[in-house]
Amino acid sequence: MTEYIFKGKTIALGVSGGIAAYKAVDLASELTQAGATVKIIMSENAVKFVSPITFQSITCQPVITDLFASNPQGRIYHISISEEADVIVIAPATANILAKAACGIADDTLSTTIVATRSAVVMIPAMNNYMWLNKATQHNLETLRERGIHIIEPEVGRLACGEEEAIGRFPKTETIIDYLKNLLTVVRGLEGKTILVTAGGTHEPIDPVRFIGNRSSGKMGYAIAEAAEARGGDVVLISGPTCLRPPYGIKVVNVETARQMKQAVLDYLPQADAVIMAAAIADFRPSEESVEKIKKEKMPKSLGLGLNPDILQMVSEKEGRRIVVGFAAESENIIESAVEKLKKKNLDLIVANNIGKPGVGFGSDLNLAILIDRSGPMGDLKTYRKSDLAGRIMDWLVGALKRDAAD
Ligand code: PMT
Repeated sequence: MTEYIFKGKTIALGVSGGIAAYKAVDLASELTQAGATVKIIMSENAVKFVSPITFQSITCQPVITDLFASNPQGRIYHISISEEADVIVIAPATANILAKAACGIADDTLSTTIVATRSAVVMIPAMNNYMWLNKATQHNLETLRERGIHIIEPEVGRLACGEEEAIGRFPKTETIIDYLKNLLTVVRGLEGKTILVTAGGTHEPIDPVRFIGNRSSGKMGYAIAEAAEARGGDVVLISGPTCLRPPYGIKVVNVETARQMKQAVLDYLPQADAVIMAAAIADFRPSEESVEKIKKEKMPKSLGLGLNPDILQMVSEKEGRRIVVGFAAESENIIESAVEKLKKKNLDLIVANNIGKPGVGFGSDLNLAILIDRSGPMGDLKTYRKSDLAGRIMDWLVGALKRDAAD
């Protein structure tokens, strides 16, 4: 999957002068191994952190540091690279390069390449937390986003300046690769289509502080929403409580309980061309919810439960033609149980995932899954990164919507 997307692609990797410049070496290496031609442009300050020779050795390409350097055909490098690149990735992007790009300043080879390009630009800021939170930096980020520049936000964690738990860390290489995979995916096909996605688990309150919940992180549903958006779809993401950042450019409707999720799905259903239910909705809830926090001394001896609505069943019974995709979280008889759900709920596709094995499923970046449509299972159960599985579901969806339109 990765190789198929990056092969034949040219990626201009602009490195600006921050300590995370050394992490860009790993990114350059992964992209090169995935089959991309990676051309490096370094700012004057980046060279103080990492030697150009390091990047040259890894990418087997010349590294551009001089504004006036030209390629063997005599063309100025920053112009030829800005034309050749399928995408320009600035990693790390310092507060300085963000400010220059927001103002259109072109006073060195890196900033000039950004101004000269018509290709997609992805900025990956990494810096001290106060520099990130600075109002000027945030304003510059907003300006860049409005102009269609992609921003992969920094992560929270230990910063090189000594902060133990603060925003500003350079994201993991896999996060960046996943983002680029979506961006470079050539198959679009969801333009003009509205895709409704559910993600995360639900919290079913016992009292104002306690609830019944499950271990869903929302990663699967969010990956689907991002993949649908990358293919040009208008995405509405109905999300249970998660720790994930809302994906940029996607409408997110936050809900807490199954009944709220049902209402949100019903609200957006009329405009949906496809519904993909990756959420782990609690099947039952406490039959009574205490308005006050239940005191320890008054602990009930047992907890009565009531059934929650089956939202997927309800969606597939609603009038109107739309593609309906469900998930099946199974720990035994994976395929048989999923086929049964597909038939019972009259679905177009079910994604069966084995949640009984360690390291996959709930909370993980991986899913051990198989796609099953009305004509049967497609291939075998396989371990996918959730972003790759989301891509496969989208490829199936693009085909299904086309077939539907042709009928
Ligand atoms: O969020 P992550 O940490 O990334 O984990 C991803 C996941 C494991 C949660 C996801 O891949 C997944 O399997 N989601 C479906 C979980 C689930 O509820 O499976 P189920 O077999 O119980 O339900 C079948 C289908 O009915 C699902 O599409 C579910 O959204 C839907 N459902 C379930 C119960 C209910 N009351 N209403 C529903 O609509």
